[in-house]
Amino acid sequence: MNDKIISLLKSKKEYVSGEEISQKFGISRAAIWKHINELRLLGYKIDAVSHCGYRLKSSPDKLFHFEVLRDLRTEIIGQKMIYKEEVSSTMDEAFQLALNGEKEGTVVCAERQTKGRGRMGRVWVSPKLKGIYLSIILRPSLPPSNIARLTLLVGVALCEAINRISPVGAEIKWPNDVLIKGKKVAGILTEINAEMDRVRFCIIGLGVNVNTALRVLPSGSTSLKNETGRCYSRVKVTQEILKKLDFWYGLLKKEGFASIIERWKELSSTLGRHIIIKDQDRCVEGKAIDLDEYGGLVIKTRDGRIVKRMSGDVIQ
Ligand code: BTN
Repeated sequence: MNDKIISLLKSKKEYVSGEEISQKFGISRAAIWKHINELRLLGYKIDAVSHCGYRLKSSPDKLFHFEVLRDLRTEIIGQKMIYKEEVSSTMDEAFQLALNGEKEGTVVCAERQTKGRGRMGRVWVSPKLKGIYLSIILRPSLPPSNIARLTLLVGVALCEAINRISPVGAEIKWPNDVLIKGKKVAGILTEINAEMDRVRFCIIGLGVNVNTALRVLPSGSTSLKNETGRCYSRVKVTQEILKKLDFWYGLLKKEGFASIIERWKELSSTLGRHIIIKDQDRCVEGKAIDLDEYGGLVIKTRDGRIVKRMSGDVIQ
């Protein structure tokens, strides 16, 4: 009921009478008052004036499911969303839900993570109400060997969403960091549960530094706020990400990976550059010349050899 009352108050700029709310939702005046107070505790500022009714003054920038999913109109991603104030990692919450049969497209998001993690065991700094920390359950009909390509799809969606929110010229650094002017603004973590030839489910974790202060981020990172000097509605950024993901995931189901790979190449900051890739203890140096159909990076070394890497870090 809280979500219905908020939607009604948002749809009207002026006062909405208790009678109108009562008639619309079939609840008593006492019940309305109880819901208004619950909403105030969640951070909504609501005026209550006798003989006039209720008016919404401001909403908190919290990722409540009824805020993010309002008017989202996606087909798969975000049909359901689970909201938490604080978790150790949304990856673990989503993994557990998926093990218990949660359906494809369900999103788990948190306002803060106490043990947010990144690729290769790194920490993902997740301060309260500053960034976006979410994990999505996918159940693609793909063999485990295709998961790197799925991660490319997420990189494309994330990069496009950031550029739509603000024309910052975000690019993708292989395999999947999103950068603004060479600094990392968002990252993707993919974890799977699979048999030899079949993925049972896949958890895609996304972390975006939205309004995060530079001083709390690791060096080489940035936030949207830091790049543009203004704050962003995390609800709007999250909606944009879910819409883009839904678009590209829908396209994958209909047409396969070809157009995703092409779009990734257009958004890449890695292709065409002289790079060094570190994969565990091995380094390869050369020019990044292509992305293969499985998401591997193709490198031409100084002595003219062509080598491929499926994982690793581009360190230069
Ligand atoms: C990386 O760039 O190394 C990947 C970062 C992924 C961070 C996100 S935040 C939401 C989800 N929960 C986590 O613990 N990690 C991912």
